[in-house]
Amino acid sequence: MMRFMTAGESHGPALVGIIEGLPAGMDLTVDMLSLDMARRKMGYGRGGRMKIESDEVRFLTGVRRGKTLGSPVTILIENRDFKNWLEDMDPGPREGPPGRGVFTPRPGHADYAGAVKYFQRDLRNVLERASARETATRVALGAIARQYLRIFGIEVASFVVRIGPVEIGEGSIPPSSWSMDELREKVLASEVFCPVPDQEKEMIEAIRSAKKSGDTLGGVFEVRTTPLPVGLGSYVQWDRRLDAELARSLMSIQAIKGVEVGLGFEASRRPGSAVHDPFVPGNPRGVLERTRNHAGGLEGGVTNGQPLQIRAAMKPISTLYSPLPSVDIRTGEPSPATVERSDICAVPAASVVGEAMVCLVLAQAACEKYGGDSVDEVLGHFRETSEQKIRWERTLEGDGKQH
Ligand SMILES: Cc1cc2nc3c(=O)[nH]c(=O)nc-3n(C[C@H](O)[C@H](O)[C@H](O)COP(=O)(O)O)c2cc1C
Repeated sequence: MMRFMTAGESHGPALVGIIEGLPAGMDLTVDMLSLDMARRKMGYGRGGRMKIESDEVRFLTGVRRGKTLGSPVTILIENRDFKNWLEDMDPGPREGPPGRGVFTPRPGHADYAGAVKYFQRDLRNVLERASARETATRVALGAIARQYLRIFGIEVASFVVRIGPVEIGEGSIPPSSWSMDELREKVLASEVFCPVPDQEKEMIEAIRSAKKSGDTLGGVFEVRTTPLPVGLGSYVQWDRRLDAELARSLMSIQAIKGVEVGLGFEASRRPGSAVHDPFVPGNPRGVLERTRNHAGGLEGGVTNGQPLQIRAAMKPISTLYSPLPSVDIRTGEPSPATVERSDICAVPAASVVGEAMVCLVLAQAACEKYGGDSVDEVLGHFRETSEQKIRWERTLEGDGKQH
């Protein structure tokens, strides 16, 4: 079993994550995490905080001389901004009220619901943990899961499909014939992680104009993988369906409000003949191939050998520089909502977090199917399962003569 947890407040001393269930003997260095950590900070429309934080990861446990030990891996990311918040965020007792209390809840943020739930007067006690600063930890843990997936040759990438009203047209969607490296290169070259230059410009313009009017924007991103081995997840129990697990993990990202697998909502508009992916005989005999991938790589909650294609929709950022009406909870009087330093649009960053969550869920599913205590043991289980599929295909080949 593989599991993970995160802890840490946005302006507290540090963020911490623990992941358990990695096999011993896996290569793991902080350098392997640094590209993902850097990508989460990028994207046109991010706020000033990203310039303060270096998001360097330190391993505290579970790794020795660049290899995992099989014990829980703990990561630590220091919040550089903490030094500017010592007075307010000091874990030790202090006299007097904090200087930067928050008292007017932002519509769309966790401020109000969290304050009532945890019986808080200072909304900072809510927003510090509800904030998406926490996603830095998820990206670090996701980058570790990415290394685990590489044992099975699985690669994961993402791109931005839409920012506000600007969407990549159906005909411009990156073709599945693009290699992961090609997709990654084009995405990284774009300020909004959109691999189509024409729409990229329009997206940047949309963010610029939202910023000008004190507004914010959301959007949609897609996460894609290389073809996944058949059989991750299961239909035998509701909570073992991998599509459900992936949707839950993407929905758990702050501000994600919708998830689509494959054709998603579009499938509901089309007849079955224009949705389902026909089988055709492959080579050698017994191997089944598909003519398309509208299912997004999942049927019955189980991976079907196709690449995973999953999308997530992000709502606009809820902190507006032209704030919406709210109420000061100290006085009960109308007051504009609090303005904390904030992003205008964070869809590119969210796509990196989405990739991380997909890596973590796929790693958990792969661990359940091929798990072992050492990399060698995991590889042995993986090979056995791959051989079983080949044996299944050979059975079809033999059966063909009798039926
Ligand atoms: C990468 C990322 C960055 C975000 N940055 C901000 C931000 O700067 N300001 C803000 O108000 N919300 C931001 N959010 C969204 C809030 O964290 C989120 O709306 C809030 O926690 C309430 O949760 P909910 O939207 O899921 O209901 C960000 C989300 C993500 C994924």
